[in-house]
Amino acid sequence: MKNFKKMKWTLLATAVVSGVFLCARAVSQSESSAPRQSGADSAQAIAPDFATYRAKVEPIFLKERSGHARCYGCHTLSNRVFHLETLTRGSAEWTPEQSKRNYESVIRLIDEEQPATSKLLLHPLAPEAGGEAFHSGGRQFASQSDPDWVTIADWVRGAGHPATPGSSPTTRIYVTNSAGDTIDVIDPATNQVVQVIHGIELPHGIAFAPDGSRIYVSNESESVLDVLDRKSGEILKKVALTNRPNNIAITPDGKRVLVGIRAQPGFIDIVDTDTTTKTKSIPVNGSVHNLYVTPDGKFAVSGSIENKAATVVDLQTDQVVWGVKFDHAVRPMTFETNRDGSTHRMFVQLSNFHGFAVVDFAKHAEVARIHLPTPPIGFGTAEGRTATPSHGIAVSPNGDSLWVNSTVANATFKYSLPDLKLIGHAQLPLVYPIGHPPTSCVPDWITFGPGGKTVYLSNSAAGSVSVIDASTFKQIALVPVGEVPKRISTLVLR
Ligand code: HEC
Repeated sequence: MKNFKKMKWTLLATAVVSGVFLCARAVSQSESSAPRQSGADSAQAIAPDFATYRAKVEPIFLKERSGHARCYGCHTLSNRVFHLETLTRGSAEWTPEQSKRNYESVIRLIDEEQPATSKLLLHPLAPEAGGEAFHSGGRQFASQSDPDWVTIADWVRGAGHPATPGSSPTTRIYVTNSAGDTIDVIDPATNQVVQVIHGIELPHGIAFAPDGSRIYVSNESESVLDVLDRKSGEILKKVALTNRPNNIAITPDGKRVLVGIRAQPGFIDIVDTDTTTKTKSIPVNGSVHNLYVTPDGKFAVSGSIENKAATVVDLQTDQVVWGVKFDHAVRPMTFETNRDGSTHRMFVQLSNFHGFAVVDFAKHAEVARIHLPTPPIGFGTAEGRTATPSHGIAVSPNGDSLWVNSTVANATFKYSLPDLKLIGHAQLPLVYPIGHPPTSCVPDWITFGPGGKTVYLSNSAAGSVSVIDASTFKQIALVPVGEVPKRISTLVLR
């Protein structure tokens, strides 16, 4: 294996781009899905609602939860700040008057300015999950995905002040837990999980309606596209697909959701978002793993593992217009744009290659291949990821840099655009399996926080999301999420 430093130099030498200078204003995957119209604001809320408290939250305090003493068991003592009334003898629930008194005690533990930091949420939550250091009542909630914790958190968030008009846009980071049945929603202002969407087993790709009203998720377990109400997380409709789906993409006008069909011979299913029905299946070169709409909305690009091909479809005619064949399976891709918004280049990750290929969109051809620096001792073997050394690639929202993940280096690398010079890298957290040497966290996908100042990475082997400062490369937060988090996307509500 080559020396780390030496690789950097090779890279500088090979990555210089010839030809015209391009002022690339790339629109990242995250920004292209950001709504332009004003959308409903999830931070907008009313005072803590007693009816919801009584119906949903209070029963948790009485509930027997496996392995834990009940909140009721300790919090009836008169010296508890969080004080619960003692039940009337023979009664299994509180009277409305008792509930009212419990409610008065509970709302004192809510921070209305910053609901996510409320004592009620953080004190009983495990410290590893973002909770406070010690609760005499123990780690009542092991993670922010615990359904009871989510119920309390949803209610607490309703206690926040309405967002003031003209305030900065609300941003949310969505991560699909590919081996679970949940989608975690992170508020980048606090780096806390503020919503957990339940009920989709094996969620894969995620896309947002431009007005932020709906979420679309490809569901591998049922071979459907789930259409969800964004605010409530409720599934509104299941759209049947040709076969098992993988990734999805939405056109910038929000009119069509494109779904990559993973089975051979390979299709892009088109779902009309007005009628929420599948209207068409476009045959492409090989079963589709990842799928994109170019930032200008003109083309769809599908990548095939089996056929080692990228296929470009004209979205005016829905016809395949060109493609590129590679020597390895096609993995994630991202796009760099010209000043007019059209696509300049696409950066393509490949199986068995620790780096990425550069495809010139006008030339319809691969023009360069960039190796990531390889560390002296690499990861990937114990993780069974040697065939996928590098997964996750994204152009920053302002188009000045390209971020590329590496399982081998357990790092993410930042390159400048358009010259593709290595700027630096962030080392990612290790996973410590008991009795085994540490492994990579297997970084999987990338997206960006507000203004592109932070980078969000799904650490698939660690069940977490790393938040990295885009200039200092320091990890500023590690957010625990669900099982094998993969696709991660940014939604900006204006
Ligand atoms: C084994 C007893 C015990 C159980 C069970 C217990 N707690 Fe506590 N809790 C305490 C004690 C004692 C404190 C005082 C501060 C401390 O030592 O953590 C406390 C503190 C708190 C606080 C901070 C406010 C205060 O009263 O100081 C919150 C909020 C809280 N607990 C929530 C819960 C919730 C919610 C549950 C159930 C899901 C729960 N607790 C279960 C013993 C318990």
